[in-house]
Amino acid sequence: MAYSEKVIDHYENPRNVGSFDKNDPSVVTGMVGAPACGDVMKLQLRIDDNGIIEDAKFKTYGCGSAIASSSLVTEWVKGKTVAEALAIKNTDIAEELALPPVKIHCSILAEDAIKAALEEYKTKQSK
Ligand code: FES
Repeated sequence: MAYSEKVIDHYENPRNVGSFDKNDPSVVTGMVGAPACGDVMKLQLRIDDNGIIEDAKFKTYGCGSAIASSSLVTEWVKGKTVAEALAIKNTDIAEELALPPVKIHCSILAEDAIKAALEEYKTKQSK
């Protein structure tokens, strides 16, 4: 199956790979897995006191589309508010990367990772 140029670009030059210190109080982590293929994605966000996402990092053990999707969302979420980041849809990711139907679940993983990280943010806020 042919990957789109954007997928190949993100796959070969992934943005923001790595992780933050999870003990940093401004860091939240979203860890999700795709049952269909066993791929795993970890997305970390550093969120400032005003609810702005300052920085993002990811580690993905998965296919090229999953790596590209997570790389892309680290770029997209930076500078966004929590509400804006929650509005990112897997269909936006799939469209940007021109993912074929069999790779849609890879973009869903990236949306789920954002949601999981921001779920932790809400839990932290309510404490
Ligand atoms: Fe499962 Fe891409 S094949 S995340």
